[in-house]
This record gives sequence, C-alpha cells and structure tokens, in this order.
Amino acid sequence: MSVNLKGRSFLSLRDFSNAEIRYLLYLSHDLKKKKRLGLSEKLLAGKSVVLLFEKTSTRTRCAFEVAAYDEGAQVTFLDKDSSQMSKKESLEDTAKVLGRFYDAVEYRGYDQAIVETLASHSGVPVFNGLTDTEHPTQILADLMTMEEHLAKPLNKCSVCFVGDVGNNMSLTWMHAARMGFTYIALGPEELYPRQEIIAEARAQAERFGGQIEFTNNPDAIRGADVIYTDVWVSMGDEDEMEELTKLLTPYRVTEELFKKIGADDAIFMHCLPSFHDFETLTARQALEKGLDIREVTDEVFRAPYSIVFDEAENRLHTIKAIMVATMG
Ligand code: CP
Ligand code: NVA
Repeated sequence: MSVNLKGRSFLSLRDFSNAEIRYLLYLSHDLKKKKRLGLSEKLLAGKSVVLLFEKTSTRTRCAFEVAAYDEGAQVTFLDKDSSQMSKKESLEDTAKVLGRFYDAVEYRGYDQAIVETLASHSGVPVFNGLTDTEHPTQILADLMTMEEHLAKPLNKCSVCFVGDVGNNMSLTWMHAARMGFTYIALGPEELYPRQEIIAEARAQAERFGGQIEFTNNPDAIRGADVIYTDVWVSMGDEDEMEELTKLLTPYRVTEELFKKIGADDAIFMHCLPSFHDFETLTARQALEKGLDIREVTDEVFRAPYSIVFDEAENRLHTIKAIMVATMG
C-alpha cells in the first residue's frame, strides 16, 4: 500500500483518506500479532512523546504509555495542573517549546481548536486523545475490533449508536461512516447535532457508500451488527446530569432493546468507562439524588455478545500504529 503518514498529526478522521485509515487498521492488526508473539522491533527507539491531559483518562493515557514503551520511546505525562499551558503561557508558545523537546505531542481536553493550535505551532505530529467534539483514536480501535469480531467487511456493516447522539463519540462515528458502513444514531431529538453538521458528514459518507440516519425510534435498531453506547454525561457536561439523565433514560441499552435487532450475531460495544452498575462513586452519588445514570444494564454489559474489553485492548494496538506510522 503506498501510504506514507510520517510527520502527520492525528486530529480528526476527517483529515484521513479511506486508504490511510485502512493502512492504520492493517498496521494495528500487524502490531497486535507481533506483540502476542513477543516480536518487538523497537520502532520508536530514541523518540519521545509528551502526553497532555486536561481531562482524566485510564485507557488513552495507558495505551499511549505502553505503546511508547513497547516500541522503545520515552514518555512525559502532564496533567492539567502540572504545566504552564494556557495559565502562564499561551498555547502557541507551549506548542513551540514542546516541539523543540519532543517528537510528538498528545492532547486530551476541551476545544478541538486546542489540538489544531498545538499542531499548527509545534512542528511535530499531534495526536487527539479526545476533545469535546472528537475522539478519533477510540474509533480507530472500534473499527479494528469490528474487523476482528464481525464476519463481514466494514462497508457491509451497520452500527447503531444509542444515547447522547450529539456527543464526541457519536460525532466521530459520523466522520468514520465514510468507510462505507451505515451509521444509525438513536436518541432524543433534543441532542441531535446541528443539521449542517449531519448534512456535511452524510454527504461525505455517501460518496463512499456509507449512510447516516438520526432517529428516536428504537425499531431502527433492527438488523444492526453493532449496538454502541457511551456515558450520558460526558466529561465537562457534569452540570447537565439531571437533564441528560431524564432525556436519555428511555435509551438505556437493555436486553429488551437488544432483542429488537432480530439477529443473533450482533455485538455490543462501548468506549468505556461505563456506568452499568452502582460500583462507582459517581453512579452512587447520582442515585442518592434520584438519578439512575446507567446507560446500559449489567446484563448486557456482561453478556457473551459484549466485546468491550477486546475493544479496550485494541486502544493499545491502534494508538501504537498511529505513533509508529507518524513518528517512526
Ligand atoms: N475510552 C477512553 O477514552 O477511555 P479513557 O477515558 O479511560 O481514556
Ligand atoms: N463521551 C465521553 C467519552 C469518554 C471516552 C466523554 O467525553 O466523557
């Protein structure tokens, strides 16, 4: 495949052609196989990456760190209180300094414009580890996991996202639909993205045989290959917990909803972390206020068709592929 991503940032799936996404998936599968066989080639030996996290993380941070260590790179982690960024030093100046020290920068936080500014001024690849509107490294892992578990190519699949259809995960699924699959966003109309955002993503998806549909009718789930959900309250939206919980309670993923699919080979996916029981402080505190914030039942989360931990593992292999392809 004649794809060369050296020096490129990974800010949004919109910046990548289908062939480039396919190449990253191919590399991810290959690196996973090699890790299983204990074959590390230290493809990032002598390189270093800085991880900037203004929001919390388990998977994304650990995937970047382990992927870097596996391939021989060094890592610096900075959380929101550990640097001068944006408080005593502008984003532009921060980017210029980090670009002098590091071979790449990862950022997780708020506005998509922040990763774009970092990429414009650092002179090194910048990776989007989640913003308010996009989570592209997650979707790359999701596509890889679908390829492992579904007996058909991506462009023959149908993904039904249930819940906050206007959040960063749903928006990123819309950008991914140009890999040729059908994306059904099932949730309340109050949370739909602006019509022009849907129209733009739909036009792009349709060029490659993909489709995008927004609906509040649970029957739309029929025939889906993947049922996907995410927390109802994304990081930064905590003040809206009550309103979001009321709107989204009818869209909790239950066995009853799953049965509407009408096929036995559908899979359940979730980017995680998930509220599927009351084993977390947040879920318990919400319950004390009368709010049941579980977006999925424990029964579905733990069912044989739930592949959420395979999906979580693939964050490592896909993030490694992004770093190897752009920094290697
Ligand atoms: N899915 C995901 O991004 O998980 P973390 O928030 O733990 O990084
Ligand atoms: N929508 C969630 C995704 C977490 C991986 C959030 O932004 O908090």
